[in-house]
Amino acid sequence: MENSKRVNSIEPSKSISLSAKIAELKKLGEDIIGLNVGEPDFATPAPIIQATIAALKDNETRYSLVQGLDQLREGIAYYLNKKYTLNANKDHILLGNGSKHILYLIFQTLLNDGDEVIIPSPYWVTFPESVKLAGGVPRFVETKKNFQLDLKTIEEAITKKTKAILINTPNNPTGAVYNAEDLQGVVDLAEKYDLKIISDEAYEILTYNKVKHVNISSLSEVAFQRTLTVQSFSKSFCMTGFRIGYLCAEKSFIDDVNKLQGHLSGNNCTFAQYGALEALRLDAGLIRILTKELETRMKLAHELFSEFFPIQKPDGAFYLFPDVSDLIKKLGLKGSEELSLYLLEKAKVAILPGIAFGMENHLRISFAQSREEIIEAHKRIKAIL
Ligand SMILES: Cc1ncc(COP(=O)(O)O)c(C=O)c1O
Repeated sequence: MENSKRVNSIEPSKSISLSAKIAELKKLGEDIIGLNVGEPDFATPAPIIQATIAALKDNETRYSLVQGLDQLREGIAYYLNKKYTLNANKDHILLGNGSKHILYLIFQTLLNDGDEVIIPSPYWVTFPESVKLAGGVPRFVETKKNFQLDLKTIEEAITKKTKAILINTPNNPTGAVYNAEDLQGVVDLAEKYDLKIISDEAYEILTYNKVKHVNISSLSEVAFQRTLTVQSFSKSFCMTGFRIGYLCAEKSFIDDVNKLQGHLSGNNCTFAQYGALEALRLDAGLIRILTKELETRMKLAHELFSEFFPIQKPDGAFYLFPDVSDLIKKLGLKGSEELSLYLLEKAKVAILPGIAFGMENHLRISFAQSREEIIEAHKRIKAIL
């Protein structure tokens, strides 16, 4: 018997399948450097671990409020208000099992069959599949050469079926950070055509070169009403395994998502939420140390890998997204997927192909691993090229 059309219509995550393959090779004793990973190698800060252990000891191990603990949602609202001059309260916040889960909830709540969502390309792998799982249709639009938003192509892609424009800043895979002017342009389009804006800001604190992240919902009251902000504790606080993400949106949207969540997973892991609460209280100095180290790794990786192909310096997230078309031609390969396999087999370096993000002739190189690994990966690639 065949499984559902719904599940057959989606693609497996290329980053997850490559990670599984690498884990298998490592188990077999292969020495592989993983520049494919979407998480820094830093340990979760100790106060977060301690708060989680304390919550377990205090028996915070039961069902809790579906939308998330009151004190955590209050804490998140306070954090957002202070950081972005918003006017949110706990009723605007809903916790999920990572921001992947939040995206799933959003599309299930927002879309009817055939509704369209505009997604600037290249894009993070989960966006189109999450739209498709809700019966929606992803409509890809090209970004500019420097990977910034192209408002003209976005407007041209809007049809009667369009329900939302999805943006992701700082961006995975390109590292682009969108400026306030372009983001205001997206708000204007949303207002003109009565659309929602879905803003994935999982990398909000990871910006470099003195560039600042702009939270689109804080641009105006209209922007706040239109925007569904998707956020995560994963990357900012080195908590990928805790599975804590959240949605910030107008109350009526949160209420509908909450209805769905009540039948889907219920509350997020209760004791993990105490860890997240502690993350909000972390010394800002500690976070600055992490982002400074990532900026150092970015400069190192950019300098080293620029020897092989042209690379635009990223302003955020932790990825380089070079154009490798000349290298593909030189090696006589068919595309980025073949290049990625070539690097894995010959140099034992795992890097994701651009095609996984909707853009051929590129690679996505993560610089979230240690400086030593970045240097060694460069050495190995140089040796085979
Ligand atoms: C743009 C973007 N959003 C969301 C996520 C998922 O984060 P979470 O761990 O919160 O599910 C990722 C992870 O790679 C990402 O790149």
